[in-house]
Amino acid sequence: MPIFLIGMMGCGKTTIGKVLSEILNKRFIDLDEEIEKKENMKISDIFSKKGENYFREIESNLLFQMKDNDAIISTGGGIILKKINREFLKKYKTLFLYVPIEEILERVDIKNRPLLKNGKNKLFEIWEDRKDLYNQFEKVNLSNLSVYESAAKILYYITENNEEIIENDFQSVILKTKGLENLKNEKNIFVSNSVNRIYGDYFNCPYVLDDGEKIKNFDNLDILYRYLIEKEINRSDSLIAVGGGTVTDLIGYVGATFKRGVKIIFYPTTLLAQVDAALGGKTAVNLDKIKNVIGTFYKPEKVIIDPLSIISLKEENYIEGIIEAFKVSLIDGNINLFIDNIEKIKKRDLNTLIKIIKYAVKVKLDIVSKDPYDKNIRKALNLGHTFGHAFESYTNIPHGLSVGWGLIKELEFFSTNLKDKEYILDFLNKIIPRNILNMEINNENLIKYIYQDKKIISKEEITIPVIEEVGKFKLKNINLKHIKNKY
Ligand SMILES: NC(=O)c1ccc[n+]([C@@H]2O[C@H](COP(=O)([O-])OP(=O)(O)OC[C@H]3O[C@@H](n4cnc5c(N)ncnc54)[C@H](O)[C@@H]3O)[C@@H](O)[C@H]2O)c1
Repeated sequence: MPIFLIGMMGCGKTTIGKVLSEILNKRFIDLDEEIEKKENMKISDIFSKKGENYFREIESNLLFQMKDNDAIISTGGGIILKKINREFLKKYKTLFLYVPIEEILERVDIKNRPLLKNGKNKLFEIWEDRKDLYNQFEKVNLSNLSVYESAAKILYYITENNEEIIENDFQSVILKTKGLENLKNEKNIFVSNSVNRIYGDYFNCPYVLDDGEKIKNFDNLDILYRYLIEKEINRSDSLIAVGGGTVTDLIGYVGATFKRGVKIIFYPTTLLAQVDAALGGKTAVNLDKIKNVIGTFYKPEKVIIDPLSIISLKEENYIEGIIEAFKVSLIDGNINLFIDNIEKIKKRDLNTLIKIIKYAVKVKLDIVSKDPYDKNIRKALNLGHTFGHAFESYTNIPHGLSVGWGLIKELEFFSTNLKDKEYILDFLNKIIPRNILNMEINNENLIKYIYQDKKIISKEEITIPVIEEVGKFKLKNINLKHIKNKY
């Protein structure tokens, strides 16, 4: 079935349509482009040489031919002017992409826009003439959203509900497409600012936290405990954390400690939180610059993963999650899920992402259920983290990207006989941003940070997981001199 995108010129129909077609692995058709191909002329030339009525005639004819295309189809801004077009569009899934006219004014370029030949202010007039016609269709408000944020929001209008349970003795997880919609009638929601900006329609009076690591501090704990007292929260209530690992770590810790433990429910919305931070029951806050030094083991009542939410991530946060999931595949074995699908991963192909989430969640939970308190095999999950944490402290590069850098270094140094090493390094080199791969590092400084690692067992040695062959690791005590000599 076709999905039509309508809206004012400059609302993003073509750019967002292309991205959606990649995410859903569907064809993309731009109706204006089809008209230009058919007439072998730019739209502005069709208007000036043959007139608007001629253009509208061809536009309608082409529109009606789209009915059997299983595609995302972007249309020209004036498609809704003709009643027969509107009647046709109403038979199919048609979404009105709404962006306030002031925002459109900033974006739109008058080149090849025949209706704006006398200046951009004409847009106000066009909007006044057309707004009632657009409003006859399902409206998606894309105000202040980036392309991927807009695409994610639109997915909630065009994908089916789907729910699956990933069973595990330690902690079961619900994978639920459009899971965020559950939250409409819930209370005690704690959400990060960006998530609230994009998905705020689904949250009822949430408590909004700042974005990023800075929320995991003692000042915030003080404020949150007082807020819970004021709201008369008790042990029969649940606190619902919606956001990345910073939100699940912080609210997890608050939930674990307030009145000796209230229920917590996680809706992780970054890929990293879905495959890692929200699983396994670790909660933490930071003390000054010392990360995760105060924390508990405390299991959430429920973890609900909505795969659609990760589509809106910034590129850097998205890649961080891919790296954490790939790390798990080195421990478990199915690296081909990533390596064979690199192009789909780059395009955020939804089906591939759902496979990756399911796989990484299952492997992490299997490991955690065998060793919930981090005594032995759970340490395998530290792969890439010894060098990664040192790099993160030294450079302030975000955690997941630093782990990617650390993975490369640890594989190069310690996995000496690993058969598929080149193949694995090639994947990492293709997804980690170039500026990080090329960073100049002062080795002496980096090693100083490695000395501060929690895994240090003596002045000389550190225990780190080493991949010997894909799917097999060993915890090895590595002499720090050995690391120094590698540099
Ligand atoms: N408890 C554990 O076992 C564990 C494991 C790994 C990491 N962590 C912790 O997790 C934290 C890192 O988590 P993170 O990478 O999720 O960082 P984060 O929580 O800072 O999220 C990254 C950014 O993405 C934004 N964001 C979240 N969801 C979004 C969405 N759907 N669309 C658009 N933007 C969105 C956030 O607001 C934030 O700005 C660190 O504090 C780390 O210590 C904990």
